[in-house]
Amino acid sequence: MILATGLLSGCGKDQTLMSDAELGLNTQQSRGRHVYKIYCLSCHPAYSSRGNKGPGLKNLYKKEYLPSGLTATDEHVVQSIVHGRGMMPRFGDQLDQQDLTDLIAYLHTL
Ligand code: HEC
Repeated sequence: MILATGLLSGCGKDQTLMSDAELGLNTQQSRGRHVYKIYCLSCHPAYSSRGNKGPGLKNLYKKEYLPSGLTATDEHVVQSIVHGRGMMPRFGDQLDQQDLTDLIAYLHTL
């Protein structure tokens, strides 16, 4: 059961190196992961709560609050992505609605 292993192992295998299938991502989530690698990964480690230039996004939606203290809702996350936040640049001009929807679907798997 690759899916269960991926979800449960956590600290075992480095999830960054795992394939979309190993992570159990559906088509939309893998598209979102692709967008994430291009636009977000350089500042936000996906599978770590330790940050790089921005906070690590592991368990983003599993916690009640975002690093900023806003509640962890799609609305607040989309706001930061589209309009930027603090030192984070805005991506409203670079991502279309489909990219955004896919990206959010992926962020929910972290
Ligand atoms: C150049 C570095 C950089 C890039 C690229 C970047 N971010 Fe950020 N991000 C930041 C920083 C810095 C913060 C902290 C902002 C603050 O609260 O002052 C942040 C904060 C966030 C937060 C937390 C918002 C909150 O309310 O606490 C989320 C979610 C986020 N980024 C998602 C993304 C996503 C998704 C992408 C890709 C589209 C992305 N970021 C690209 C630097 C970056």
